[in-house]
This record gives sequence, structure tokens and C-alpha cells, in this order.
Amino acid sequence: MSIEQLAETAQAMVAAGKGIIAIDESTTTIAKRFQGVGIENTEENRRAYRELLLTTPKLSDYISGAILFDETLRQSTKDGVPFAKYMADHGIIPGIKVDKGTHALAGCPGEVVTEGLDGLRDRLKEYYKLGARFAKWRAVITIGEDIPSGTCIEANAHALARYAALCQECGLVPMVEPEVLMDGDHNIEVCYEVTEAVLRSLFGALYEQNVLLEGTILKASMVIAGKDCEEQADVDEVAESTVMCLKSTVPAILPGVVFLSGGQTDEQSTAHLNAMNQLGNLPWPLSFSYGRAMQSAALKLWSQDLTGNFAKAQAVVYERAKENGMAALGKWEG
Ligand code: 13P
Repeated sequence: MSIEQLAETAQAMVAAGKGIIAIDESTTTIAKRFQGVGIENTEENRRAYRELLLTTPKLSDYISGAILFDETLRQSTKDGVPFAKYMADHGIIPGIKVDKGTHALAGCPGEVVTEGLDGLRDRLKEYYKLGARFAKWRAVITIGEDIPSGTCIEANAHALARYAALCQECGLVPMVEPEVLMDGDHNIEVCYEVTEAVLRSLFGALYEQNVLLEGTILKASMVIAGKDCEEQADVDEVAESTVMCLKSTVPAILPGVVFLSGGQTDEQSTAHLNAMNQLGNLPWPLSFSYGRAMQSAALKLWSQDLTGNFAKAQAVVYERAKENGMAALGKWEG
């Protein structure tokens, strides 16, 4: 795989005014989302729901790619077209979640490390054959009393870098995701310090493992106060802190940064992205790779009538894609 091909895919993922829809919930996670709106968690309901999202008319106006879960990459539309083929035919780059989730990190109470490196090379080769062109790995950093530890930050950065190098060897663009959780009562300054340390460690590890940054995308969490913090920062402060933190840690050669929504409301996630892009003078495109903030409203509507609301829910997906696509240009009007 040439670096030119990886760079081309990475640039297409963050094309102007476009972002990613994350629909890579594991079977356990989608069970929780379905349970929240009273949908039974069957394979057919999962397939039908992913079909609703991926076949949204004109989705590629604002969406460059979608991250799938293993099961979804092997499924097809009701007319029998494999999702990966449908996506490629409609200008959406297929992506795949390749980590195997978080596990308690030995010796570090309250902290986790993401697993999934064993056998990863073979899985990546298969995913490439199935049509995937980028792959996501999510590391989770928790803020709490005396955590995160340096051990946890480094263990997760090392795993992210090992996975990223394997992805590039197999022709997939790594979308490296070190998520600093919004859980807790920490203020925005604490989130800034932790995010800065995490990104420093990550880019050091990527360098050590010979990962080519031109063919890598960062999926970042925003610098924001914890959910239970009494002093919530306003939109401009979140935007300015996030951009300053990224500018001080993320090399300019990276093709782009996309954000996760992480529990922010739909409106917050769009407003924050818009405010960052309005600051201007950024070394990389800043866009979105939202899961909940792209899907929640559509899922709720669909749950009320799985057949009757199919097209209406797609219109909601399109609307959320449009709002976030405009925010990626700093042109969202609220
Ligand atoms: P949220 O936007 O719901 O945080 O999900 C994005 C994602 O892919 C987390 O790994």
C-alpha cells in the first residue's frame, strides 16, 4: 500500500464540509440504545436500522464515510447489496471498528486499556477485502481522583500506535481515538491538562512505531468540563481551549481531526464544532465523527413506527448531517 493511497483516503475523509457518521456500536452497545427507545435487539432490527442510516438519500452531500461494526460490514441491504458496496457506490467510504473494547488495566485501579492487537493483522486483511478503507480504535481515559496515571496514558498510546502501524501495512487509514471521558466533576482546565498529556503521548508513540501521519486521522474528544462540574464553560471557551490544545500537540501534517460527541447534546456538539471553525487559521480541517449526536433524534423517531417512519427518520439523519457539515465549515446558523 502506498502512502499516496492512504493520504488520498485520509483527505477524502475530511473533505471540506463533510464528516463521518459513527455507527459502529457493538451488539451490547446497540442493545442499550435500542432498549432506550423500546426496539428489540435482533439481528434483523440491527440490519434494518443500519440500512436506514446508510441509505439516507444524498447522505454523501455531508458525509464522507461511516464506521461500521464487524457484523454490519458483513450485512446487506434488503435488496441484497452488501453495505460496503452500497456505500462505495454512493460516495461513502466504508470504515470499521477494530478494537475489542476496554478491559481493567492491571495495577491501575479504576483505569482501562483497550485490547484487540492479537490477530489484528489477519482481521485487517479480511476487512480490506470486505471493502473497508479506514479503521477505528478507541482508547478510553478516565478523569478522577489521582487518575489518569502516566501508566494508563502510555499503555493506551502504545496500543493505538501498534494498531495504527498495522492498519497502514494493510492499506487502511487508522482513525486513532483517545477519548477523554466527560464523566466526572472536573473543570475544563483539568480536561485541558489531561487531553494535552494524552495527545503528547499518542503522537510520541505514533512516531516510535513509524506511523505515517499523512495517512492517519485523529478522532479527538473536545476540551470540556465534566458532566457533573458546576461551572460549565461556554461554547467559545470550549472551542478556544480545544483548538489551543490541539495546536500545541497535533502536527500540522496530519490530514484532519474529527471529534466524537461523547455525551454532548446534538446542539452542543454542532455549536462547538462550528465555533472552532469560526476561529479560522487552523492547520488541519476540523470535522465530526459523531455517533449519538448524529443518530439519537432519528432513532427515536424510527422507534415509533419502524415501517411508517423509515423515510422520516432518514430526513432527520440528513438534517443532522447537514448541520454538522455546515459546522465543519463554520457556517452553521443555529
Ligand atoms: P459518540 O459521538 O456517541 O461519542 O460516538 C462516537 C464514537 O465513535 C465513540 O467511539
